[in-house]
Amino acid sequence: MTVLALQEVMLSAVRRATTGSLAKQSRVFQYQRQTPQPLPATVPQHAATMASSPALPSIAAKTHGIEKSVWVEFIQLALEVKPLNLGQGFPDFAAPDHVRKALSQAASSETNVLLNQYTRGFGHPRLINALSKIYSKVVGREINPMSEVLVTAGAYEALFSTIMGLVDPGDEVIIIEPFFDCYVPQVKLAGGTPVFVPLRPVYKKEELMMIADLCKKYNSVAIMDEVYEWMTYSGQEHVRMGD
Ligand SMILES: Cc1ncc(COP(=O)(O)O)c(C=O)c1O
Repeated sequence: MTVLALQEVMLSAVRRATTGSLAKQSRVFQYQRQTPQPLPATVPQHAATMASSPALPSIAAKTHGIEKSVWVEFIQLALEVKPLNLGQGFPDFAAPDHVRKALSQAASSETNVLLNQYTRGFGHPRLINALSKIYSKVVGREINPMSEVLVTAGAYEALFSTIMGLVDPGDEVIIIEPFFDCYVPQVKLAGGTPVFVPLRPVYKKEELMMIADLCKKYNSVAIMDEVYEWMTYSGQEHVRMGD
């Protein structure tokens, strides 16, 4: 998508939201993520962009080929056919009471105004200490909160930072299928080549240990996306490579 096209989508989103009801406004997010129609094949994308707005640069070549996203496609489809959209996590219930209370207290505290300021970049000390306590128990060894815990704004940021920090141009990255859609564009953006391995998605401990041993042998790193670690079917337990 060109910068100009992106601007047009955002403008149209704002127009729709500001002329409509609150219900419409809550859909700004969805309108923003629509993909505009591609330019006619006869008009080179960069030429059209530059001609209509010389001040705006076209997007980086490294993003070519990864513009499409399953989210854009399915949000568009959901807007058109209005199904029950199970593809996105929009719960129709409120967050737990204690979470909302803590958030409102933190935002309105007049005694500790620093709660609304920059915090330690790797994570607020209280948060990393709490996380290290939980995960020390879970993995059965002492986790150092200062050197082994990094807090990010969601899993996307964690994955993006990890992949950018570990993958060099030309590296091959094994992606086990089925996989979450963002791994491939992130690997490509880092200059890596995704290599797909279709395997049974649920691993036993011994299988994870075997993969861990292979990683050690070949000086590789296993990146485990465990966003669903606390959501298991009853009677089942989440198994971590790090346990
Ligand atoms: C497997 C998986 N990884 C990562 C993410 C991204 O998580 P976040 O919304 O915390 O960035 C999701 C979100 O649905 C996911 O399902």
